[in-house]
Parts: sequence; structure tokens; C-alpha cells
Amino acid sequence: MSTESDALIIDSLSKSFGDIKAVRNLSLDVKKGEVHGLLGPNGSGKSTTMKMILGLIRPDAGSIYVNGLNPEKDPTEVRRIVGYVPESPRLYEFLTGIEYLDFIADIHGLDADTKRRRIKEFLEALELEGRENEMISGYSQGMKQKITIIAALLHKPKLLILDEPLSNIDPKSARIIKDLINGLSREGVATIFSTHVLEIAEAICQRLTIMSQGEVLASGTPVQLRELAGMPGSGLEDAFLKLTGTGDIQEIVKALL
Ligand SMILES: Nc1ncnc2c1ncn2[C@@H]1O[C@H](COP(=O)(O)OP(=O)(O)OP(=O)(O)O)[C@@H](O)[C@H]1O
Ligand SMILES: [Mg+2]
Repeated sequence: MSTESDALIIDSLSKSFGDIKAVRNLSLDVKKGEVHGLLGPNGSGKSTTMKMILGLIRPDAGSIYVNGLNPEKDPTEVRRIVGYVPESPRLYEFLTGIEYLDFIADIHGLDADTKRRRIKEFLEALELEGRENEMISGYSQGMKQKITIIAALLHKPKLLILDEPLSNIDPKSARIIKDLINGLSREGVATIFSTHVLEIAEAICQRLTIMSQGEVLASGTPVQLRELAGMPGSGLEDAFLKLTGTGDIQEIVKALL
């Protein structure tokens, strides 16, 4: 069901919530070391797809393989090799940053030395050093998001699933995280990354999949997507708006005004 070079294979995946078809017949593959962007309007099925990859939501139909493992049959093993940043992370607010990261590292069975070293490196890199002994409840949104990202990386996952990880992060830390994803990519770590910020998608993703109403609308490199939209010389944003059928922006704005 998977080849050596695939980190993730999704085949004909579907999921409905009552009458809402959140994901429809979605197929997608991500190679080892690939950074793959998942784009699409609000409600197009990105987060639902990510939760199914982790085995948090059960698909109605279709199959998923993470490094050859099926998340429905082997959820524990899949979570061992996946790092996940959810779109609305729930942190233990009554713990301090360091207590939370210690707890996550212990769940993953890191030895004491490795744990201390990795947590220190990440806290330094993301400029949280000196704040780690404060309660998470007192952290800013961006600080909480950074803690979630560190927690997802501590166990050196083979596949990163990042659901809008940079939405509250300041430019310098966002740059560090982007460089980190690129560095991990060179070590063979695959990333699937959802974002609404098309410049970010273009800057760090080798391939992009645009979803709309649960379906794959288009998939390819940023250059291929612009060509597909018939706009080879334009920005990715214009191509995205055309492909997702949101071409009448001017009309909408005029009506609102
Ligand atoms: N637990 C749920 N119960 C009912 N409907 C759900 C549930 N989770 C998702 N949906 C519906 O499935 C569709 C896809 O939602 P999803 O969260 O996957 O979209 P998304 O692409 O991540 O959107 P956004 O960009 O806003 O994060 C939406 O119509 C949403 O209302
Ligand atoms: Mg979402």
C-alpha cells in the first residue's frame, strides 16, 4: 500500500457529518522530505483531513497510510511518528511551559538528557527562554502556539501535520519555524501544512493541494498551479482565487460598500 519514498498516501477518502460532506473522495500523496501545503477556503475540509490522518476522526470511506501504517488500525504507532499542531490547541493552562513540555517528552519516552537538551534548544530558538517557569495561562496566543509547535517536534517525528501553525507567530519566530521545517525536510521529514497565507505556502511548500468543498480542486507545484489557472505570470493569490472560483471579489466589495 505504500512505497519506500512515501510518507503519506491518502486514497479516495470521504467523511460526512450528517448532511455535510466535509471530505469527498480525496486522494493525496506526500513524499518523504516533501513540504506539502493544504490550501482552501474556510470549511473546505483541511482540518478534517488532518484529523483523519492522525486517527482522531474515523473516515467513512477510503484509506490512509502513514509510513505504511494505517491510523485506524494502528493509532498509537502513527502518533509515535507524527507531530501534530492542531488549529485550536488545548494546552494544560495550569502547568508551566516547562512542565507541559516535560510531560509531552515523557509521554514519548525521551531520556532525561535528550529531553533537557531538546527543550532548551527549542525554547532558545523560539525566544521563550526565561518564560518557561510561568503558567501557560499567562502566555500570549503566540507563546502558546510556540509551545504547541515545540511539543509537536520534541520526539523527532517523521511526518509533521501543522494546521495553520503560524497564525499568531511574530515574523522572526515564523522565519525560524519555516527554516526549521526546511531543515527537517532535508533530513527526510515530510510536512503537511495548512495555511491561508499564500506567501507562506509559496515560500516553504514544494507542492500544494487546493481543496474546495471537501474535494481536491488542484494539486501541483506553485508554478503548475499558476499555469493551471491560466495565470503563469501572476501571484499565487490571484491563481488561488481563480481556481477556487472567488473571482468576483471586486463585485463583493462594491456591494458591501
Ligand atoms: N465535528 C464536526 N461536526 C460537524 N461538522 C463538522 C465537524 N468538523 C467539521 N465539520 C464540518 O466539515 C466541514 C469542513 O470543516 P474543516 O474544519 O475540515 O474545514 P477547514 O478547511 O479546516 O476550514 P478552516 O479554513 O476554517 O479551518 C465544515 O463544513 C465543518 O462545519
Ligand atoms: Mg481548519
